[in-house]
Amino acid sequence: GLALFGEQTLAGKSVIVTAGGTRERLDPVRFLTNDSSGKMGYAVANAARQAGATVTLITAPTNLTAPAGVTVVPIQSTTDLSNAVLERFPKADALVMAAAVADFQPETTADQKIKKTPANDELILKLKKTPDILKQVAGIKRPDQVTIGFAAETQNLLANGQKKLASKSLDLLAANDVSRKDIGFNGDDNQVTFISPDGSTDQTPKASKAIIATALVDRLAQLLVKK
Ligand code: CTP
Ligand code: CA
Repeated sequence: GLALFGEQTLAGKSVIVTAGGTRERLDPVRFLTNDSSGKMGYAVANAARQAGATVTLITAPTNLTAPAGVTVVPIQSTTDLSNAVLERFPKADALVMAAAVADFQPETTADQKIKKTPANDELILKLKKTPDILKQVAGIKRPDQVTIGFAAETQNLLANGQKKLASKSLDLLAANDVSRKDIGFNGDDNQVTFISPDGSTDQTPKASKAIIATALVDRLAQLLVKK
């Protein structure tokens, strides 16, 4: 059943939550990033804390204040995030990857500001794929640990979501349709479809990110009980 708000369903559990959009630096004054506000991840960190977990929030830069009682680990790039997650995951019971991770990073970062010169009428950026953190985690995950991902999709939500769940060895995926203007990246509301490894799906109503986060944490607690 649904956990009542404030019930200590995660007491004694250690949960890592990642949040925000990673930044991939081009030079000392420029970076590539995405539209993530960090709100969903911060809401999950808060809900997990409310449920009694010891929470580590690994966060890219956001405009948000971290929930009280949560250990904050600030990061910038996908490489930073990967290092921070892989270092802490072995001691955690669960990982919730709400961060919007850059898929590509500049092949090189300039030490000095990139200058305009009479010779460069165009600038071609060469990007390389970032490490897939959840796939790295899948390689070291123990049977007693729970991993939960988010999926941002603009089409074929369920089919794409199911592929992601399997390829990242997740226990749960919260898929959301980022083509919708009323939910997702920057708003206060969200609507997700929870996808499980057995193929079952469950769409939440459109609700505040706090309510979606509580629903996710309730599922996390149930998954940890079953492990
Ligand atoms: N993720 C990750 N490492 C990456 C990219 C994404 O761990 N390098 C995580 C995200 O934090 C999220 C999940 O994987 O929990 C799905 O992210 P998403 O961007 O939807 O999927 P991708 O695997 O990056 O595939 P694509 O963007 O091409 O759909
Ligand atoms: Ca991606």
